Amino acid sequence: MSPTELRPLRLLDRHRVYELATMRFGSQWSVSAIEQLLANPNQLSWGVFLKEDSKLISYLITIVVAGEADIISIATDPEYSRRGFGSQNLKHLMDSPKIHKIVLEVDVGNEAALAMYSNLGFTVDGVRKNYYNGERDAYRMSLNR
Ligand SMILES: CC(C)(COP(=O)(O)OP(=O)(O)OC[C@H]1O[C@@H](n2cnc3c(N)ncnc32)[C@H](O)[C@@H]1OP(=O)(O)O)[C@@H](O)C(=O)NCCC(=O)NCCS
Repeated sequence: MSPTELRPLRLLDRHRVYELATMRFGSQWSVSAIEQLLANPNQLSWGVFLKEDSKLISYLITIVVAGEADIISIATDPEYSRRGFGSQNLKHLMDSPKIHKIVLEVDVGNEAALAMYSNLGFTVDGVRKNYYNGERDAYRMSLNR
């Protein structure tokens, strides 16, 4: 495994974010939607990149309002999954002095993500019925710092 570095996402990363999001979530977003998100002044986002070729292998995008970070999207390239990169992105957010609370929604059937959030101390606050496509339920989870 080649060395990696964590750095903020830039607009020029939008195509690779799109590729990863499409790979992991299906056709949820367009490149222009990601571009708008990355241009949002309230966004806080970064990713893990391979040092050798600057390939983005895992990312986290949040919107922060008054110290509360809402996780909009987090994904890891399946080729690099289960190697701690998703957790690394989240821990970096948890370590940010500007953030006092992190909130998110996660599909009730998404066992990998649920395990990751639980391992890091997130707790379930409630259920949002029919949150995804008016069909699947989501857990609302949060972590206070
Ligand atoms: C959820 C996701 C971001 C995790 O990324 P990752 O880089 O593999 O995460 P980590 O390597 O840090 O794994 C953290 C923990 O998550 C859990 N986990 C990750 N992948 C898992 C899998 N395939 N099956 C079961 N648990 C899994 C494990 O508890 C793991 O800890 P462990 O390896 O010490 O047991 C990744 O699976 C992904 O991109 N999923 C699709 C997109 C998604 O569901 N995003 C979350 C939306 S709310």
